[in-house]
Amino acid sequence: MNIKTGIIYSSVDGQTLKICNTLVEVLQQNDQKVELFSIDEFDEDITKYDRLIIGSSIRYGVHNKRIIDFINSHKKELDSIRTAFFSVNLVARKPEKRTPETNPYVIKFFKTIDWKPTMVEVFAGNLDYKKYSFFDRKMIQFIMWMTKGPTNPNTKIDYTNWDRVKEFGLRLSKL
Ligand SMILES: Cc1cc2nc3c(=O)[nH]c(=O)nc-3n(C[C@H](O)[C@H](O)[C@H](O)COP(=O)(O)O)c2cc1C
Repeated sequence: MNIKTGIIYSSVDGQTLKICNTLVEVLQQNDQKVELFSIDEFDEDITKYDRLIIGSSIRYGVHNKRIIDFINSHKKELDSIRTAFFSVNLVARKPEKRTPETNPYVIKFFKTIDWKPTMVEVFAGNLDYKKYSFFDRKMIQFIMWMTKGPTNPNTKIDYTNWDRVKEFGLRLSKL
């Protein structure tokens, strides 16, 4: 098989990129060709890929505008190949909000965009208060307080379920 996969990501603190790197590993272990790009550097012809995967984290309730603009302006090409989308956010740390059908950001995203990828996933992200600016830390602490999460400024928790990421990679390899 000579299937070629493209992965495009938007990641501010590196968690979405880390998830993409795991997907690359799984696909390569299954003898597949993969190319990984940040949304800021992607300038390829989409149709040269058999599959295209797009992953983006949530910042203050939204996915990166560049990701949204990219999807909106490449709908025709995206619809001509197999595609997948995944979102990374902290609300998904809650079991009842970690599926595409129950995660509020994913639900809202697909209400506002005219695209139906072949596969959709959502992963819980990383919480690391020490990495954030003063303002961001206060805001995330507030969001965490509202949603009954940890507010201690020393908290560092990787909520991503890496087994689920690998399992997603395997499903992608068969897409
Ligand atoms: C400034 C900032 C704003 C965030 N806003 C949200 C949010 O509104 N909802 C949420 O669930 N997670 C939010 N998060 C959590 C991120 O989605 C999570 O940390 C994720 O792992 C970030 O992925 P990235 O490193 O690939 O950007 C926010 C994080 C930061 C630092």
